[in-house]
Amino acid sequence: MSVESQTDLQGLQAAGEAVAVTLRKMREYARVGMSTLELDQYGAAILAAFGANPAPKKDYGFPGMACISINNEVCHGIPSSETILQEGDLVNIDVSAELNGFYADNGGSFVLGNDHRNLQPLVDASREILQLAVKKVRSRMKISDLGGYIEGEAKKRGYRVIKNICGHGVGRKLHEAPREIPCYRDRLNRERFRKNTVIALETFISTRARYVQEAPDGWTLRTDDGSFVAQHEHTLIVRDGEPIILTQANGI
Ligand code: CO
Ligand code: CO
Repeated sequence: MSVESQTDLQGLQAAGEAVAVTLRKMREYARVGMSTLELDQYGAAILAAFGANPAPKKDYGFPGMACISINNEVCHGIPSSETILQEGDLVNIDVSAELNGFYADNGGSFVLGNDHRNLQPLVDASREILQLAVKKVRSRMKISDLGGYIEGEAKKRGYRVIKNICGHGVGRKLHEAPREIPCYRDRLNRERFRKNTVIALETFISTRARYVQEAPDGWTLRTDDGSFVAQHEHTLIVRDGEPIILTQANGI
């Protein structure tokens, strides 16, 4: 959507605050031995206290509040009583919600407990690259130039990017125009960022794989070669100068 009024801005800020606080509290609550369902239910109560509705459920019928993806799962993981968090897990929590007709989307990966597989550098790279990319976004910039920048920053750090999942426009729905904000230079994409557009900018930084595959559950996207992917995501408003970040309160 395009932000056209103070009402739009305030509505988006409220939605951004709800998802960001929920994400931060869920990350702080996560413990070894806890199921991802328990973590999801904890977050669902926080989101509900804001009066917000989980967007994946509202827009797509997703069976959970947040997407919680563990290890070789990259995104859209389903919270489950059978998935128990383990020491050193790479955990991704992605919280998106609708509040009074406005949507915000927010995610982040972290290593739980003892990092015995040394995944922290991957997580740090993803978080840093998101922060750098957020500072670069400008109205009239080519979307493909931002993708090229993200991929270049990943390469510099010895990583790759996932090509078949992307950032996207957001605001009045979870996914809207621009439909694809990839993490690589998509030469076929000639679109430019427009002033006042609300976007969800996401990194998908990979130790090896370039593509994710759908799991048999019909939701989870994962790597099939054992590689790990870290994701961080902010919702922001494009401007002529630096964008307004709506999900700052997540602490990533
Ligand atoms: Co998200
Ligand atoms: Co998103």
